[in-house]
Amino acid sequence: MADGNQVHAAWEREEILSLFDPSSGRLDRRIYDDEAIYRLELERIFARGWNFMCHESQIPNAGDYFINYIGEDQVIVVRDGEGQVNVLLNTCRHRGNALCRAEQGNAKSFVCSYHGWNYALNGDLIGVPGLKNYYRGDFDKSQHGLAKAAQVDSYLGFYFATLDPQAPPLHDFLGDVGRAGLGMAAAYGDVIVLDGIQKNVIDCNWKIAVDNLFDWYHVMYSHASANSTGFVDLAQILHPDSQLVILGEYGHGIGGPGIPKPMQDQLDQLSDAQREEVSKTMPFRLRPASAKDLMGATGVRSMGHPNIFPNLWITLNGTQLCLRLPRGPGATELWWFTVTPKEFNPEQRRAVVRTATHLFGPAGLLEQDDGENWSQSTRASRGVFSRSLDHTLQMGLGHDEAVAEPGGGAAIDTCISEHGQRWLYRSWTEWLAAKDWTDLKANHSAPPKGKV
Ligand code: FES
Ligand SMILES: [Fe+2]
Repeated sequence: MADGNQVHAAWEREEILSLFDPSSGRLDRRIYDDEAIYRLELERIFARGWNFMCHESQIPNAGDYFINYIGEDQVIVVRDGEGQVNVLLNTCRHRGNALCRAEQGNAKSFVCSYHGWNYALNGDLIGVPGLKNYYRGDFDKSQHGLAKAAQVDSYLGFYFATLDPQAPPLHDFLGDVGRAGLGMAAAYGDVIVLDGIQKNVIDCNWKIAVDNLFDWYHVMYSHASANSTGFVDLAQILHPDSQLVILGEYGHGIGGPGIPKPMQDQLDQLSDAQREEVSKTMPFRLRPASAKDLMGATGVRSMGHPNIFPNLWITLNGTQLCLRLPRGPGATELWWFTVTPKEFNPEQRRAVVRTATHLFGPAGLLEQDDGENWSQSTRASRGVFSRSLDHTLQMGLGHDEAVAEPGGGAAIDTCISEHGQRWLYRSWTEWLAAKDWTDLKANHSAPPKGKV
């Protein structure tokens, strides 16, 4: 088998690490445009890491499938007859044709539209037209099953997969901060993902979209028009002087408004019934006491946005998930998943869908503002001279204190800052510079402690 992992890489370790300087916040803009960097990202970040596939509620029955991507590798996430969830590469072992063309559905098996090879739900090749007459019986079906993800696992019903057998278990990869991020989505109880994933393409590099989820600096300015419609009241959400940034191993992070610790201490005294009462006077529903088990004592103070590195954004209070799927250095496909508590009735679900549709996604007020800015930032990175001008990620640098969390993460109570972005790009250089998981485990930075 050809080694598909060989990348010509003109980029050496030291050059990659110099693309972002955490001590000054200087970021080299070639990271948004360089084709060789993009190829390395596919190999060393997406194929190596754990990628979000779907939620268990999207594939409850045998034969249910959902199409997703690991980088540019298209995969079929499918529940087989034994209840097992398989992640199969959607490429026929004969001439590479895509087997499954629908975005989701239910199948008994997957038949290739080119010459009719037939694959079982676990990826085994079970039918080959002409096996006796044309192959003269001289063909071993057992050697030509679909390729599979090396590891598949779930946490709180959210399925992830990696193509790298050396990747640590999902639980360890997520760490306390990644688990707190997913915990935010399930903080009120079990959830489901509603049918109808909103998908659109923005002409931007995927990293500028990820950078943005930690960016609370742009909110009042960039989204002033959305605010003026009255559909959202950003002042009630933003709290610029009460921000909490939580940094986790391997680049996970949570950034945005945070409940100050003394206030959280008071909230912790309330029963769940009392929390429901208080919530009636607040823009958000207070989380139940059990949320602390999922999010930790610090995580539960966050009213911000988690990112599971590299590209899974959990929006404010976990009502939407967004995957930022890379489509070359200059384009990103955004997939919006709408999440609701399992017990919501149809009317409540409709209300969630309405809010979700109006906030983010192709029709969302906020994403239309953001998309234009990301697109122009990316476009300018193609200019020979423009891209020689570094990005500036200096806000708050040297002015805050990172406090160690019991699970290994670090928490920073601050005002609006760029700590989250600096952690993102620092982790990104380390993933990209490492040649395999052994290298990455040995040479990635732990979340910073002390002055940041
Ligand atoms: S390409 Fe799939 S059967 Fe030939
Ligand atoms: Fe925004």
